[in-house]
Formats: sequence, structure tokens, C-alpha cells
Amino acid sequence: MITLPHRELGRSGLQVSVVGLGCNNFGRPGSRTASQEGTTAVIDAADDLGVTLLDTADIYGGHPGQSETYLGVALAGRRDRFVLATKFGHAQGDMGIADGATKGSRAYIRAAVADSLRRLQTDHIDLYQLHTPDPVTPIEETIGALAELVTEGTIRAFGHSNFTAEQVTEAEEAAVRLGGARFESAQNEFSLLVRDAERELLPSVRRYGLGFLPFFPLYNGLFTGKFTRTERPSDTRIMRQRPHLADTAPWDTIERYEVFCAEHGVTMLSATIGWLLAQPGLTSVIAGATGPEQLRQNAAASREWTPTADQVATISGIFA
Ligand SMILES: NC(=O)c1ccc[n+]([C@@H]2O[C@H](COP(=O)([O-])OP(=O)(O)OC[C@H]3O[C@@H](n4cnc5c(N)ncnc54)[C@H](OP(=O)(O)O)[C@@H]3O)[C@@H](O)[C@H]2O)c1
Repeated sequence: MITLPHRELGRSGLQVSVVGLGCNNFGRPGSRTASQEGTTAVIDAADDLGVTLLDTADIYGGHPGQSETYLGVALAGRRDRFVLATKFGHAQGDMGIADGATKGSRAYIRAAVADSLRRLQTDHIDLYQLHTPDPVTPIEETIGALAELVTEGTIRAFGHSNFTAEQVTEAEEAAVRLGGARFESAQNEFSLLVRDAERELLPSVRRYGLGFLPFFPLYNGLFTGKFTRTERPSDTRIMRQRPHLADTAPWDTIERYEVFCAEHGVTMLSATIGWLLAQPGLTSVIAGATGPEQLRQNAAASREWTPTADQVATISGIFA
């Protein structure tokens, strides 16, 4: 097995590989990971490569629960070699829990975690994340319910996703008042083309010592080098489901980035992963992969090129 560098996720004590694996393709119709076999092949590669962080959610897959179910099968006999992260509460009712329980409530969380554990075939989740903020339930109730799961050993740590900087602060202050466990990580969209998090969210994440997991880090695959202004591979999620991302991409800027990559003798994939890993506070690049070779390239990219501070600034400037 190859060992990738690891970083601590916030102050959770969880050590995670700097390239993780986003699992929202598992069970996705049309992709190679639509099947159990395709999913297991990617997990086999993660195991070989030392990619230890797996990030899924209860709603991922062709139908809710499918990604977790496939993962549970693929992890049989090797669960403890991975840091398993999942999420709950993206859309109330999606998971059939409901009964009026809002997704951040204690009742909802206890039902959701039991379902995820069953699908994942495990007795604990390493990182349990609130997928989107719950505008109804007081954050104290959510933190209390998650802290209870930590005490019971059902989860090792908890995080949030899609929080604003203000919500991050509110949650941190509530955790301090409660005096127990706190959110250890934030997960928000962040890539060369979506950098809103730089303004307020990332400074909050750093201030409170949270881990940060960027979602859509490769902008759905646009920054893997296989897309150009004129080349749009049809066997991709972008072309199957989100062609507007290629249509509306700022190709003049991306072509300037291509020139930068060529001048530095680095692939666009390596430059992009190197730039992400150079962002202060960012813990792990949880890019998705639809085949073992993609994960192999993503893991290799994390070691191929470490940009200098000037090179990081130049790339940031290209996409300013
Ligand atoms: N918290 C949230 O609300 C939220 C929202 C969205 C996603 N997420 C998380 O973030 C993770 C990552 O997002 P994502 O997977 O949607 O987007 P992404 O990481 O930006 O793009 C990944 C996609 O790019 C392509 N790809 C990856 N590596 C490649 C390589 N080396 N060569 C060629 N193509 C490659 C694959 O798609 P194709 O093969 O189809 O091209 C892959 O599915 C998700 O899995 C999920 O865990 C969280």
C-alpha cells in the first residue's frame, strides 16, 4: 500500500489523507460506479493508494441510501482502514424519516444515524455531517444530539456543510456555552471557479480551528484536463447532467491557466490539486472518481507538484 500524506481534521484527532474520495457517484445512473462492482473497484483503488477519507451522504446514489449501501458492501472486512464520513438532513422527508421531525432535531438525527449505520454495515461513523443548515431547530439541540452520539461511541466527530460564516460562529458559540463536543469540520463548495468561501467562511474556519473539506473541488471534473473549449468528452457527468458548466466556463481564463501549467511542466490536475492543498485550513481534497485510474491520478497529483507561495498567488490571480 502507498501512503499519502495525512492531515488532522480540525481538532478531532482524525487523521485523513490529503486526497480523499467523494462518493456521490456511487450508484449514480450512467456512471461506471452505478453498480456495486464499479464502486468496489474504486474502493479497492483507495485501499491500495492509501486514500483513507471517504465522504458520502445518506441521499447519494440513484435513490437515497444507495451510495451508503454500496460502500457498506465494499468496505466489508476493511472498514477500519478508512475514515468514514457521511451526512444527514439534506432534504427533510427524502429519507422517509419525517414524522414532523426537523432534520437537525434529536429525533431526526437518531433515526438517520441508525439508518446510515445499517446501510454502511458498521457500528460507528467517523465524521457525521449536517448536510445543510436547519433553519428551524435551535443549533443547541443539534449539537447536543450529536455530542450524545460522540459520547455513546456511535460517531467519532461531527461537522457541518453549507453553513455561512455567521452560522459557523453561531454554532461555535453555542458549543462553547454547552461545554461539550463541537463541530470539527466545514464542507462547502470551493474550487478555482467558486471561491466565495475565501471572503468570510475560510477565515472563520481557520479562526475556530475547523477542518475544511471543499466540495466540487475539480468543478465537477472540468479541471481534470479532459475538457477544453472545443473538447467535451461525452462519457462524463458534466456532459450527461450539467453541460451548462462547460458552456458557461470562462475559457479565456482557463486557457491562460493551461499556458501557466505548460510553462511549469505540470498537468492541470496536479496544478489544481496543488493549489487546493496550499490553501490555509484546507484539510483534504474530496474529489469524486468514477474509476480506479481517476483516483490513482488524483492521489499522484497530490505528490507531483507543490506550488511555491508565488505560484499559488499567480494561479489565484489568473482566476481572480
Ligand atoms: N456537501 C455538499 O452539499 C456536497 C455537494 C456536492 C458534492 N459534495 C461532495 O464533494 C465530493 C466531490 O464532488 P464531485 O465528485 O461531485 O465533484 P468533483 O470532485 O469536482 O469532480 C469529480 C468528477 O470529475 C471526474 N474526475 C475526477 N478525477 C478525474 C481524473 N483524474 N480524470 C478525469 N476525470 C476525473 C469524475 O467524473 P466523470 O468521470 O463523470 O467525468 C468525477 O466524478 C462529492 O463526491 C461529495 O462527497 C458535497
